[in-house]
Amino acid sequence: MDAIALRRGADAPEPIERPRPVPDAGEALVRTLRVGVDGTDHEVLAGTHGTVPDGEDYLVLGHEAVGVVEDPNGTGLEAGTVVAPTVRRPPNGDPNDYFARGAADMAPPGATLECGIDGAHGFMAEYFTAREEFLVELPEALAEYGFLVEPASVTEKAVEHAYASRSAFDWAPESACVLGNGSLGLLTLAMLGGYDRTYCVGRRDRPDPTVEFIESLGATYVDSREIPVDALGEVHEPMDFVYEATGYARHPFEAVEALAPGGVAALLGVPDSWTFEVDGGRIHRELVMNNKALVGSVNSGREHFAAAADRLVNLPTAVLDDLVTDVYGVGEFERAFADDETTIKAAVEFHNQ
Ligand code: NAP
Ligand code: BGC
Ligand code: ZN
Repeated sequence: MDAIALRRGADAPEPIERPRPVPDAGEALVRTLRVGVDGTDHEVLAGTHGTVPDGEDYLVLGHEAVGVVEDPNGTGLEAGTVVAPTVRRPPNGDPNDYFARGAADMAPPGATLECGIDGAHGFMAEYFTAREEFLVELPEALAEYGFLVEPASVTEKAVEHAYASRSAFDWAPESACVLGNGSLGLLTLAMLGGYDRTYCVGRRDRPDPTVEFIESLGATYVDSREIPVDALGEVHEPMDFVYEATGYARHPFEAVEALAPGGVAALLGVPDSWTFEVDGGRIHRELVMNNKALVGSVNSGREHFAAAADRLVNLPTAVLDDLVTDVYGVGEFERAFADDETTIKAAVEFHNQ
């Protein structure tokens, strides 16, 4: 069976041969359709995030997958059902409180492994196994783009948590700004509904496919080299909601300035350590005197996968067609990891249904 892995100490993915997995009791066997690539995969390749499983010399990559149940193996799933796997698994297979409560997404590092990222093999293989509780059923219509459910679920969770922080008063957000025109930022921009005005911040020259995508959604492109995030309020308008998906560590602080009174910023980026100067007093005062909030969010739970699946089936297919610029067969997997400016979202295809 073909798989795509990162060897310990290497910085590029490579094809490997592994035996087809045999499901244990309670696990189903899944035939992989497609697996997406995101900024986290590049961080794993760069060695700044994640780990190879203990005692192994490689990590099978991939955490954004869609597949079809090949062998239910006595679980409640049916053969042929389209599924997406969740990412987190208990260390040593021993469910801790977070897993027992169905809240693995709230587990701190150390209380969870992450498939394809941190200490557990991922889904970039022709087949994988997973326990039923880690597989979310998807509508048949998502067989093609179901690998977007995982990143979309990350956004569902972040928005839920950010909005919950505003639930104690009558909050009626009108403006939203996504920081980052990478795959997560643009998927999120496509998912955001109910705002009068939306913006997306990047740092690219036109012509650029991400800028075209932003404008096709009716959003305004903002170049952070010309308009820094903390000037958004003056140049455009103060933002009720900010979604940070750059991993650029100055952005959370700049976002505090960009927010409208009562606004909230959801922080998703996973930056490296970086020491820089900020006016901490001003940021603290701004948060307090204007009732602003910053909410960090990572990963997602089954309920967020279900919400994401609903949201994706209701998006125009043309939007997903524009977002997913590259799908490569296993023989061309390297191209899915190319870090170029023509790719918005790439995936590796293992089976075609
Ligand atoms: P990505 O494809 O690398 O996208 C990051 C984007 O941010 C790039 O398009 C980059 O622009 C842009 N950017 C970086 N610094 C900028 C700046 N100063 N001004 C304007 N734009 C800037 O990564 P992704 O997959 O979208 O993910 C985004 C971040 O979220 C990553 O840090 C990732 O680790 C994190 N993430 C977190 C979660 C979670 O659960 N919290 C889930 C998924 C991803 P250029 O391409 O022009 O350089
Ligand atoms: C994944 C999440 C994961 C996070 C941190 C993201 O790219 O989509 O599931 O929790 O990285 O590793
Ligand atoms: Zn991801």
